[in-house]
Amino acid sequence: MNNLVEIKDGKLFFDGCDTTELAKEYGTALYVMSYTEIMNRINELKEQFTDKYENTRIAYASKAFCTEGMYEILKKAGACIDVVSGGELYTARKVGFPAERVEFNGNNKLQKEIDLAVEYGVGRIILDGLQEIPLIENACKKFGKKMNIMIRITPGVAASTHDYIVTGKKDSKFGIPLERDIFLPIVKQVIDSEYLNFTGLHMHIGSQLFENDAFLKALNVLMDWAAIIKKEFNADVKEVNFGGGYGVTYTDEERMPYSFFMDPMMELLQKRADEIGIERPAAVIEPGRSVVAEAGISLYTVGQIKEIPGVRKYVSIDGGMGDNIRVALYQAEYKGVVANKANEATSEKVTLCGKYCESGDILINDMLVPASIEMGDIIALFSTGAYGYAMASNYNNNPIPGVVMVKEGKSAWMVKPQTYEQIIQNNVIPDFI
Ligand code: LLP
Repeated sequence: MNNLVEIKDGKLFFDGCDTTELAKEYGTALYVMSYTEIMNRINELKEQFTDKYENTRIAYASKAFCTEGMYEILKKAGACIDVVSGGELYTARKVGFPAERVEFNGNNKLQKEIDLAVEYGVGRIILDGLQEIPLIENACKKFGKKMNIMIRITPGVAASTHDYIVTGKKDSKFGIPLERDIFLPIVKQVIDSEYLNFTGLHMHIGSQLFENDAFLKALNVLMDWAAIIKKEFNADVKEVNFGGGYGVTYTDEERMPYSFFMDPMMELLQKRADEIGIERPAAVIEPGRSVVAEAGISLYTVGQIKEIPGVRKYVSIDGGMGDNIRVALYQAEYKGVVANKANEATSEKVTLCGKYCESGDILINDMLVPASIEMGDIIALFSTGAYGYAMASNYNNNPIPGVVMVKEGKSAWMVKPQTYEQIIQNNVIPDFI
């Protein structure tokens, strides 16, 4: 765990806050996000990438955790953001995020979303299909604008991670297949369009990665095509987006510093650009998980405890798959502790389960806890800051928990918990029933 986790008087502290007091003050289930940890990651990215190499940008992948407060942090830090929906665009606009620092991704951008992006004046649209071109041109005509376009490729490289989060292999709904007859006409259409400004190529090979091989292989493929584009159309690839995917620690994975990925990538980018005879393109990365995952913990209160003799002991909490779908979806593994008994020896193995009506609603399969575990204890799960709140649902009409931000002992709401009324606020009873 990161160094913001401490144990004092047997209680778990996170970024200077007593988590048992947070549970009392704000209620559970609760997401807690550390401002300090987010800033540490942003500063690490600056030191190891944008300050170290010229002509580089960080475009935080909003999908990992998107709230107005998160955008405010990134706005102040001078970072860019990657957005993938009208909702993320709307949130960015709401906090006055500078439009030129917004990059719009997605494999099926809707006309109304493209309209929002073009009207807002986003810095880049990442093209992900042939039929997207007329949609962008429509919007450009409507708002009298010209758009910077990067083209997302499918480099045909398989990264080693969970199958659901691999995106760079050939059989993928993302990116444009690298077949001459498919890819080159799209590039030509972008170059020839009076509304579009071809700026470069984009790739994203997968998520939760710890090795560099697949990144380097994919970048080589991308630069092979930069050479073809130069030869065929005499056009320069001026920007290259490496995507995100930098792995984090959930249980015992060893997190690599950003420089582990960036240094060899930047060296290869320079080398390949020199070979092609173009300026070294601007380099952009889209980290999501690695900025926020370890900045988040989830707090729950223990409810029913059920012992099935000779089988197992179920410890139920007041949250589950509605606030963390990653275990059911990807067999993700988490570490947790009993926050109010953090010093007690852990001698019992239990299954930590949620309150949702689904047998698969398990958060930790074999969790070691003190034998004294009882109703009312507070459980903390670590590294839940990415794709937790972001993927939360109202299954069983349970409210989505709130998010509290902590910073050196201070705490404040970042997102208030949903109320029952908010869950049904858009319900309508049809008049014919
Ligand atoms: N850029 C693009 C184009 C992406 O599709 C993604 C993630 C990222 C950047 C950010 O990747 P990251 O740095 O966060 O690994 N819900 C899954 C992860 C899905 C990732 C989808 N795309 C999970 O909970 O593991």
